[in-house]
This record gives sequence, C-alpha cells and structure tokens, in this order.
Amino acid sequence: MKLKKKVAIVFGTRPEAVKLAPVIIELKKHEDKIDTLVVVTAQHREMLDQVLNLFEIVPDRDLDIMEKNQTLTRITVKALEGLEKIFIEEKVDLVITQGDTTTSFVAALAAFYQKIAVGHVEAGLRTDNKYDPYPEEMNRRLITVLGDLNFAPTSLAVENLRKSGVSDDTIFLTGNTVIDALLHIANREDSVIPPEIRSKIIPGKRILLVEAHRRENLGKPMENICRALLSLVNDFPDTQLIFSVHRNPKVRDTVFPMLRDKERITLLEPVDYPVLLSLMKKSYLVLTDSGGIQEEGPSLGKPVLVMRKTTERPEGVDAGTAKLVGVETENIYKSASELLTDSAAYEKMAHTANPYGDGQASRRTAEAILYNFGFRDERPDEFGTKLFHSTVGGVS
Ligand code: UD1
Repeated sequence: MKLKKKVAIVFGTRPEAVKLAPVIIELKKHEDKIDTLVVVTAQHREMLDQVLNLFEIVPDRDLDIMEKNQTLTRITVKALEGLEKIFIEEKVDLVITQGDTTTSFVAALAAFYQKIAVGHVEAGLRTDNKYDPYPEEMNRRLITVLGDLNFAPTSLAVENLRKSGVSDDTIFLTGNTVIDALLHIANREDSVIPPEIRSKIIPGKRILLVEAHRRENLGKPMENICRALLSLVNDFPDTQLIFSVHRNPKVRDTVFPMLRDKERITLLEPVDYPVLLSLMKKSYLVLTDSGGIQEEGPSLGKPVLVMRKTTERPEGVDAGTAKLVGVETENIYKSASELLTDSAAYEKMAHTANPYGDGQASRRTAEAILYNFGFRDERPDEFGTKLFHSTVGGVS
C-alpha cells in the first residue's frame, strides 16, 4: 500500500482563494490518499477572509502577514520565513500555488529551498512584458522555472509553457478553476445581493460595473479611468456606475475624491464574491483591470472592457467577449460609449462562448496530483479545445 502524501495549498489574496477553493474541495475527496494542508499567508486579510468564509475553508496554518502599505520586499520576506517553517514542520510532499501574486511566487521559492515539488495552478499565462503587469508577469515566469507540475488553463497557456522550455509530461491542460468556483457559487441559493446594496440600485438604469486595483494602474492611470467613468455617466443618463472599491489605500485615495457623491455613481466596499457575480449578472457592461473578472464575464454573458495596456488572457479578446481598451480616458470612453449606443456591437460581445473552462478544472487538477504520486495510472482528460457554452443560473 502506498503511503499518504501531504499536499500544502498556499495562498494569500482573494483571487487565489477563489481559484484554489474548488481544488481544496476536490482534493479533500481523496482523504485516504492525500492530506490537504491549507496554508494562508494572509497577504490580504479582510478580502481573503471573505472568500474563506464563503467556501467554509478553515486554514490549518495562517501567517497573518498583512501590513498597511506593505512593500513587495516585506511581503516576500515575511512569507518566505513563515512558509519555510511550516513546510519543515509539516513534512510537506507537494506545494500547490496559484497564479502570480507575491505569495504565489514565494510559496514556490520556499518549497524549492526545501526541495519540495511545486504544482502551479493557472500556469503559462504571459504578456511577455517584464513590467506589465508588475510584478505579476515576473512572478509567473519565476514560478514556471521553479515548478514541477503545471496546470495550464488553456491551450495557449500550454504553448507558452512549451516556449519556456517546460516538458510536456509536466503539463496538464485543465481549464481555469475560476469557472468551477463561479458555477459552485452561482448555483447556490444564497447568491443574492444584500438589501443595503440592492437599495442603491436605481431601477431601469443600465449598470456599468467597475473593479480596478492593479499596481501599474495606481496614480495617473486610475485618475484617467475615473475621468472616463465620470464622462460616461454624465453623457448616458440611463446608466448607473457601480464601483467595488479595493481596500488598497492607493486605490481609495484616487477613487473616493474623484467619484464620491456624484449622481448615479455608487461606490461600494469590496463586495463578497457571490455579490460580485450577482452584480455582474445584473450589469450591462463590466470595466475592469482584474484577471478573474475577464474570465468570468463570458460565463455570465457580459462584455468586459479591460482597462490595461496588456493582457495575459488574450483568449477572451480573440473570442470577442473582452476588449483591451488601455488606460487613456478617451479610449475607455470611446469603447464603452460604442457598446452603450451600438446594440449590434454589444450583442456580438455578449453572446460568445467561454474559452476559459468547463467547470472540471479542479477535478482534473486533483487527478493530475494523484497521477503524479502514482495513485492513478492515467493522466486526466484534457480541457477541450471546443469552446464551452456555459449558462449560469441562480444568480440574480
Ligand atoms: C495583490 C496582488 C495582485 C492581485 C491583488 C488582488 C501582488 C504583488 N499583487 O495586489 O496580483 O491581483 O492582490 O486583490 O501580490 N489591503 C487591506 N485589506 C485587504 C487587502 C489589501 O488593507 O483585505 C491593503 C494592504 O494594506 C496593502 C494594500 O492593500 O498594503 C495592497 O495590497 P498588496 O497585497 O500589497 O497588493 P495588491 O495591490 O492588493
């Protein structure tokens, strides 16, 4: 009989938690073979805890590292020291990390220092621009170099990994686990907007939903974004802007002074994940610099305008569900106003298939882990190249 293996799932911020929660749920189905150790750095506190509560995940270890105005170095140092201790104490066999945050990279580095294998969920995303997004593009490249198992969400990500010299045996085409999370939550009965937010929604208006927080967009680009949003709401009286404002003080210092107390503009504290999905479903158009929202849009039939100069998720742009609009006021305004006035252009973007996943990514990831340890003889099936037409019910 094979001995049980211990797998540490490490994360620190909200998007990592959303995308790893379905993997944790899936791995826990194999308790006879795998001990799943949930480790959070808590690079983010409140926003991480929202997701832990939602998926009813209680971390086994919590480093609680978040500080106000933390620097990348500070996050790196605190997480590296904390994770090293945990990995040694817990005698971990495999570390699973997701995406491209500083926590994700440091988890891989700490594992490497202990000669522990590394599995990377959402491997192979690239912009090929070292500083955009910063530091995420470098984090994801470094994790690829340190990694042993690569769970690629799309065939493009597989290609990127091959180009980086990664061997095919270590690559598993799984689809993106964000779609698993979305389907999990969207089908739950409690996915409703709470009364205090519902009461702020103005009946009959087209909702423009906004979320923006990326480091490279702080300061001037965020001001440009706010200026475009102000003009849109002014020029389209049948719209309401709803902005879920990130906890980062550098986001708030721009957004609140520019958009507070304006007609038909509603600023919300970061909303829970199911509420965000419900708001997306109610909205006409989504404007964001978030990666996850770019992936969720197609499942909810919503066009997404990506307020960034680059994206590591060109699949949505190619499929026609997302458009890269940059961070200049004029371009953001022009693209949004086109979708507000041209119904044919709108319909084309709203009715495209989802290139990111089919809701089976976490099952494939767990099976790949079992295969890696020799608990299974077969590799998991691959996420199909066919586009997945998902219709999400139950979100309102
Ligand atoms: C981080 C990730 C980014 C990810 C984003 C998701 C890095 C380098 N960046 O960016 O890839 O898209 O998280 O949100 O890892 N804060 C709070 N409470 C919270 C969360 C944040 O107060 O619940 C404040 C902290 O004081 C912190 C600041 O926000 O100083 C910025 O957080 P940080 O983790 O440094 O970077 P983000 O820009 O949030």
